[in-house]
Amino acid sequence: MMKKLSVPALLLTLGLTGKAWVPVESSSSGSSAPGWDIGSGAVHFERLCAGCHGSDGLALEGEGPPLAGSSWVAGPETRLIRIVMHGVRGPIQVGDEIHDREMPGFGPRLSDDEMASLLSFVRSRWGQPGAPITAETVRRVRAAAGKRTRYWTVEELRATP
Ligand code: HEC
Repeated sequence: MMKKLSVPALLLTLGLTGKAWVPVESSSSGSSAPGWDIGSGAVHFERLCAGCHGSDGLALEGEGPPLAGSSWVAGPETRLIRIVMHGVRGPIQVGDEIHDREMPGFGPRLSDDEMASLLSFVRSRWGQPGAPITAETVRRVRAAAGKRTRYWTVEELRATP
């Protein structure tokens, strides 16, 4: 005879481990907006970013600049959102080095929630662990940019509040 599994105990275990990855639960309004979720952010990072920036954020030879130690990652959140949403091109200083290439934007491929999770993961790993980026901030930056598709330059990023 099989021993019967205690379903409530199992659910409790799953619920607890699940919670570790979901710091902000959906509100009582019944909406499904989860805020941000670093667990899925890590998955998006591997899928979309690691090919150039490296899983360890140290960059792959000849592809992207490093994220580890970058002031663009630790600096103002709206700049980081703009870079990843619309892309960036031209000279950009990261650490002691100047890079002069281009990176495509990922805005059309990620919802506000997904972008928030991705960037919260990036910040928690290489920038500001205590300062996650919310879906609401991503939504505001997306709305302010309107239909923009052009990549940003560093001068434009610095000039845009
Ligand atoms: C095709 C390769 C490629 C992919 C994929 C890519 N990047 Fe980049 N990224 C670059 C390059 C190249 C630059 C520098 C662009 C320049 O010289 O102006 C850059 C610059 C950056 C910067 C600013 C400089 C720095 O190193 O801090 C950030 C932040 C960044 N990328 C984040 C991301 C994130 C997050 C993703 C995934 C959503 C991503 N990138 C995907 C190539 C890539």
